Amino acid sequence: MALEGKHILVTGAASGIGRATALRLAEDGATLTLADINQEGLTETASMISAPIEIIAYDATDIESCQSMMAAATANGLDCLCNIAGLLDWGPTLDFDEARFQRVIAINLSSVYSLCRAALPDLIKSGGNIVNMASTAGLLGTPYSIAYSASKHGIVGLTKSLAVEFASRNVRVNAVAPGQVNTPMAHQAPPEGDVDWPLMMRNAPKLPDGICEPADIAEMVAYLASDKASKITGSVINIDGGQLTG
Ligand SMILES: NC(=O)c1ccc[n+]([C@@H]2O[C@H](COP(=O)([O-])OP(=O)(O)OC[C@H]3O[C@@H](n4cnc5c(N)ncnc54)[C@H](O)[C@@H]3O)[C@@H](O)[C@H]2O)c1
Repeated sequence: MALEGKHILVTGAASGIGRATALRLAEDGATLTLADINQEGLTETASMISAPIEIIAYDATDIESCQSMMAAATANGLDCLCNIAGLLDWGPTLDFDEARFQRVIAINLSSVYSLCRAALPDLIKSGGNIVNMASTAGLLGTPYSIAYSASKHGIVGLTKSLAVEFASRNVRVNAVAPGQVNTPMAHQAPPEGDVDWPLMMRNAPKLPDGICEPADIAEMVAYLASDKASKITGSVINIDGGQLTG
């Protein structure tokens, strides 16, 4: 029970990787607060866990909603923040308007900044840590994903910068960068319009069974959240079936 006595907030917990992470952290004995815009999905996730769970609906595009969610979630202190909520919206850049770009940045990057900033005072008190969800799209240029790739490169920079700034206060900050994961996000309709498919597929996983399951990612989040990773900070760990091997 590596996380017994630890209070962990997981965003994006209504679905996919966030749900798998909640289940995995619960197995390790963590006390959980789960947040997402999807209240029904949160209730479903909570019903899969036998321990009492606090669930909070919030909208990552709304700064006040982020702040009030954090105020409720940190009322009894916090040991770990897992920023997993995210949005994939993609398409040819010349068709990708300002509003779509800003929405992806708001959910995937700006809200993560707000939640980290709100959590840090409690994490300094507890000697806690943050695990952010990046992507291989945050480590290499990704066609037709101008906003998503920019937001995930932003997560990498935010993670490393916080790690440097808060290491002396004993707060660790890491990120996981998944490749392709079998979640509702990965099954979204592909981009419409003028798409060069060979270009899009050029960074496929190399392993024969290289598509990840949400539990593969959750395992790493649980490790980074625990004291087993006490010497790891500022790391971005890709789990991608060999997508980035070259
Ligand atoms: N699935 C993949 O292939 C993959 C690959 C790399 C990174 N990721 C990242 O993993 C994370 C989880 O994605 P997933 O694959 O589990 O997708 P998912 O769609 O199953 O889950 C995303 C969750 O984020 C929540 N969310 C979306 N907009 C929100 C908002 N405005 N406010 C609050 N919550 C909101 C959704 O309700 C959902 O529960 C994301 O950050 C995603 O970018 C996914």
